[in-house]
Amino acid sequence: MSRVVVAGADEDLILRVKEAADGDVAVLPPGRLPGDPARLFEQLVDGELPDVLLVGPHAPAPEVLTLAARLDVQSPGIAVVLMAEPSAQMWQAAMRAGIRDLLDPAAGADEIRAAVDRAGQAAASRRRVLRPPAETERYAGRVITVASPKGGVGKTTVSTNLAIGLTAAAPQSTVLVDLDVQFGDVASALGLVPEYTLPDAVRGPASEDTMVLKTFLTQHPSGLYAVCGAESPAAGDTVNGEDVTRLLASLAREFRYVVVDTAPGLSEQTLAALDRASDVVMLTSMDVPGVRGLRKELDVLRELAMIPAGRHVVMNFADPKGGLSVRDVETTIGAGVDVVLPRSKNVPASTNRGVPILQSHRRDPMAKEMQRLVSRFAATPLMKPGKYRAKHRAAG
Ligand SMILES: Nc1ncnc2c1ncn2[C@@H]1O[C@H](COP(=O)(O)OP(=O)(O)O)[C@@H](O)[C@H]1O
Ligand SMILES: [Mg+2]
Repeated sequence: MSRVVVAGADEDLILRVKEAADGDVAVLPPGRLPGDPARLFEQLVDGELPDVLLVGPHAPAPEVLTLAARLDVQSPGIAVVLMAEPSAQMWQAAMRAGIRDLLDPAAGADEIRAAVDRAGQAAASRRRVLRPPAETERYAGRVITVASPKGGVGKTTVSTNLAIGLTAAAPQSTVLVDLDVQFGDVASALGLVPEYTLPDAVRGPASEDTMVLKTFLTQHPSGLYAVCGAESPAAGDTVNGEDVTRLLASLAREFRYVVVDTAPGLSEQTLAALDRASDVVMLTSMDVPGVRGLRKELDVLRELAMIPAGRHVVMNFADPKGGLSVRDVETTIGAGVDVVLPRSKNVPASTNRGVPILQSHRRDPMAKEMQRLVSRFAATPLMKPGKYRAKHRAAG
């Protein structure tokens, strides 16, 4: 028997639905029907998702159609049945919104039962197609944590561009998580205005069901998904290491790449993200304090045995006139440097506009080297090995 949630219904209809569905019925409080599935799920007391959403004649049609259309895209495993005067016009609008069935508002329990059964079966078969049955068969995506001991060295720049680059290489493959819990600025770097942020994604129904979690993500026009940072430092501070571990595990089941931007240093949240990571991008500015900081951070992580299998060392703000060579840096940190990103005046401009440099200035030398970092992760190499790093080596 399908689990049914009823909205926009009066007492009499609720009784008919309960009779039809043998009791497994949750009733949404009367009032406006949220246009957004995530808000709808918030209203479910036990947080359990329905197979069928049955909407009675008391909900205004435009609200129902908006909600149904969004459910059809975001949660196709839930079928919507609408009780409304079945005019030709209504049928057409309902069909366009992906509504499964239209019933006369006066339909009896038998008719309702038949419609709910059909809708429940349709929902179940869509879920089977969408999701492999066993947990083990689902994705084990790469979790790429971008970290550095200091602020202002380009973590957000690198994580947003890496995420954009991976999305371009494999559409819908990537989610970016802003774990700079107090002062995250991923939303601003991507020009996003999020409806939900990190705390929403780790609390309540979103934390229990990956399908719901997906409705809490913010979508970038490129097809990249994002969990944007909290609205205030206090709200961000409520997110702890366990929340991070759970969130990254769920996202890695749904996405091929989970890119994580972090706050400077080794906070509880960053350590949780490193613990869960398959890859770390260790970032520093190419100057003596930055490089020393990086060595200390690498030492600590080595001691904690927390360096993931994939380790990528990236120098940012490289400047041939800066007096430090790649070889100097490698000697200091006791590890190889993998990618060198030159300083470019186009980068601050792209940050301020909220358009990552991989989208705004693809030919910029910084964007080209950034592309090289992307191709360390993307399955297909995106470009031939370039000359920048070699030139830089020679300069040293
Ligand atoms: N290679 C670069 N060249 C020029 N400016 C850069 C470069 N990388 C980052 N920036 C700028 O430096 C500032 C800090 O970068 P950001 O990514 O926010 O650092 P973090 O996240 O580590 O604090 C931003 O204004 C950004 O545009
Ligand atoms: Mg940042």
